[in-house]
Amino acid sequence: MLSRELDDKSYHKISEFLEQQCGIVLGENKQYLVKSRLSPLLNKFDLNSLEELVTRTLSSAERQLRAAVIDAMTTNETLWFRDEYPFRLLQNKVLPVFSNKRTPVKIWSAASSSGQEPYSIAISILEYQKNHPGSFARGIEVVGTDISTTMLEHCKRGQYDSLALARGLSEERKKLFLKMATTGC
Ligand SMILES: C[S@@+](CC[C@H](N)C(=O)[O-])C[C@H]1O[C@@H](n2cnc3c(N)ncnc32)[C@H](O)[C@@H]1O
Repeated sequence: MLSRELDDKSYHKISEFLEQQCGIVLGENKQYLVKSRLSPLLNKFDLNSLEELVTRTLSSAERQLRAAVIDAMTTNETLWFRDEYPFRLLQNKVLPVFSNKRTPVKIWSAASSSGQEPYSIAISILEYQKNHPGSFARGIEVVGTDISTTMLEHCKRGQYDSLALARGLSEERKKLFLKMATTGC
């Protein structure tokens, strides 16, 4: 019989682990969140209780379990051209400053989730280059990183269902920059 209970000691241990590993601060009274997100891992890792899961997670040898715990506790909400304004700022103020640089330029999306942010940056660059031929002649690169390995895989695949595509991406940009698959992705 699996135990999904989490005593205060284990809750504080897992909170500390998350804060140290990825800067996620749970604060007090988020036991319900930890329980609901980590309980599905019990079967997957053949564990009997959340307390066992916490103890094993703290051991540095348990790399897969640690990654799965971090994956489960991250919130990966994202969309295309999120909040719009940062992307207008990128095109109108930031890219012009670097467009004639004599060295390659690199833009870092530090918490890229499933990829909509770095791909939106890439689209912004392509649009800028169309309007400013010859810009970034030495090359420009967009790098995405994320602490969630599942999100990184998604990001690398670069495949999005119609629901994800409907969030922030205009029909025009879809036609210009995406390859549509007949299977719905
Ligand atoms: C809410 S999403 C935001 C995604 C995107 N930047 C956006 O604004 O649309 C937050 C992302 O940050 C990632 N994350 C959380 N802590 C992180 C850390 N310490 N280092 C790298 N990524 C982290 C999560 O995995 C998640 O995918």
